Amino acid sequence: MPHLEVVKGLHKVWEARKDFPILERQVNRKPLVYLDSAASAQKPQVVIDTINQYYSNEHSNVHRGVHYLSQEATTSYEVVREKVQRFINARNNYEVIFTKGTTDSINLVANSFGKANLQAGDEVIISAMEHHSNIVPWQMICEEKGATLKVIPMNEAGELDVVAYADLLSDKTKIVAVVHISNSLGTVNPVKEIIRRAHQKNIPVLLDGAQAIHHTKVDVQDLDVDFYVFSGHKMYGPTGIGVLYGKEEYLNAMPPYQGGGDMIKSVTFEKTVYNDLPHKFEAGTPNIAGVIGLGAAVDYIEDLTVEAMASWEEELVNYAIEKLSVLEDIKFIGQAKNRASVVSFLVNGLHPYDIGVILDKLGIAVRTGHHCTEPIMDKFGIPGTVRASFAFYNTKDDIDKLIEGVNRAIDMLK
Ligand code: ALA
Repeated sequence: MPHLEVVKGLHKVWEARKDFPILERQVNRKPLVYLDSAASAQKPQVVIDTINQYYSNEHSNVHRGVHYLSQEATTSYEVVREKVQRFINARNNYEVIFTKGTTDSINLVANSFGKANLQAGDEVIISAMEHHSNIVPWQMICEEKGATLKVIPMNEAGELDVVAYADLLSDKTKIVAVVHISNSLGTVNPVKEIIRRAHQKNIPVLLDGAQAIHHTKVDVQDLDVDFYVFSGHKMYGPTGIGVLYGKEEYLNAMPPYQGGGDMIKSVTFEKTVYNDLPHKFEAGTPNIAGVIGLGAAVDYIEDLTVEAMASWEEELVNYAIEKLSVLEDIKFIGQAKNRASVVSFLVNGLHPYDIGVILDKLGIAVRTGHHCTEPIMDKFGIPGTVRASFAFYNTKDDIDKLIEGVNRAIDMLK
């Protein structure tokens, strides 16, 4: 992008803060400073209005009625599938499956792919920095099938050891499931390299994109990834909606995850014929409002552009690191060279929870604890971290308030 375009993009991003009504409210009689977007991002007015409009004027069930409203709802629902297809550059719209969220998408793949492909003695590779949602479903299916979970190690900076990963890949490996951007450390993983090495042995790769889809441009064909999963609520959309992208060849070969309405072509008591993609994996009345709200979020992101959002978020992360670095006894957890949107830290031997409670009294929302990544905390021998996570709607003033708050916490707790 030429320089002028970058500047224009940034101006648009800065102005977009006003689209988020919640950022105007007070918490504990202080203006809200929201630094917990990795847990869940706030919603722009257009997403809220779109959901409201849907329920006020357009609601009906999808894929089921000949009547006007059902057809209208079906069209709106399927238009979003095409939007998501374009957003991630999937080859086909039926490779986009709507789920409840990232966790649901991973459980779908672990159960369905695992049921069809895993046997005793097989191996599944994950990494040392996975969220529990990309550990536990694989552990469960491995236990059921007598397969083994292998873990790619990481270094002290919170970067994966790609050489060790290459050594783990073998004829026994049936799938690799790795996080794109770590929710606790902010590490951006070398996913293209991870995929390339797995594909040399014809092993499919699932990427957990929950923290990546809105922080970096995702092109599933360019990545050549086999499964890519993400949640609506982290990308300024509603909760309870998410996406599983899967390559047609894999999704077609996988058995349904759940049985029920919409995932069938015909049912008798003797036999059910399953529906084609994507409906085979969308049993029951789906989260129609969630899908339509997700569509509004995709439009919103595309208008601002992920590139402009990410460029401002990078500046915020660098500013936060610079300002936090001057605090005495600060310890950063996760110092990868390639990182995005998250700064995790500990101060002065203080418990992260205590710092979080004091920050909350000042209206500052951060997440404290293990962030659903207990193995990371075990590796560093800590109970948890204070995590400030950024979205494009944050400002440098938010970070200045965070620093003031942390200084106040140090004074109070030491
Ligand atoms: N995975 C979310 C987080 O990192 C909930 O906070």
